[in-house]
Amino acid sequence: MATIRLGDAAPNFTALTTEGEINFYDYLGDGWGVLFSHPSDYTPVCTTELGTVAKYKDEFEKRNTKVLALSVDGLESHKGWINDINETQNTTVNFPIIADEDKKVSELYDMIHPNADATFTVRSVYIIGPDKKIKLIITYPASTGRNFDELLRVIDSLQLTAYHKVATPANWKHGEEVVISPAVSNEDAKNIFTKGFKEVKPYLRLTPQPNLN
Ligand code: BEZ
Repeated sequence: MATIRLGDAAPNFTALTTEGEINFYDYLGDGWGVLFSHPSDYTPVCTTELGTVAKYKDEFEKRNTKVLALSVDGLESHKGWINDINETQNTTVNFPIIADEDKKVSELYDMIHPNADATFTVRSVYIIGPDKKIKLIITYPASTGRNFDELLRVIDSLQLTAYHKVATPANWKHGEEVVISPAVSNEDAKNIFTKGFKEVKPYLRLTPQPNLN
């Protein structure tokens, strides 16, 4: 297992899931992807997380993003657990969950952190771009459920900054001002950012989000 870092190619794999066998790259197609792991089936935090992701499916779809969950339990366990998630979270799980019993994918993506837990995966999140490169890695411990609003916010930032010479400041949300990349000169900025920009410092220039009307 090699360390996976930002900018690396996302390792491809074929895995058994609750929606049949999936080849990761084929599943992603030419869109974005979120691969995220769960410590175990039939656990409380994971149950709320998967229910939340199911409810956010439209939001991921709007962002041309496919989600793929993983836990190291088997397919029968996943299927029974999905019934519980649907019942308790008042939703329908509408994305595949990998049954990674042999830990092939968990090990490929370094999702088992032995000093945290020898057996179960931590809560890893990998966001993959259309070029199949790793764009974001976040790791949470088992005891902390993820904030999926934050993941959507990050996807908005990743997609914006992939196509525009801007970066997003602290706590930025879709629709708010962004900062101009330091590599862009003021002269170029005048042509590129037609809505104008505010120079707070030579290295801190704010402009309206460029991909909005
Ligand atoms: C949970 O998903 O609730 C959980 C899983 C492993 C350890 C602690 C909590």
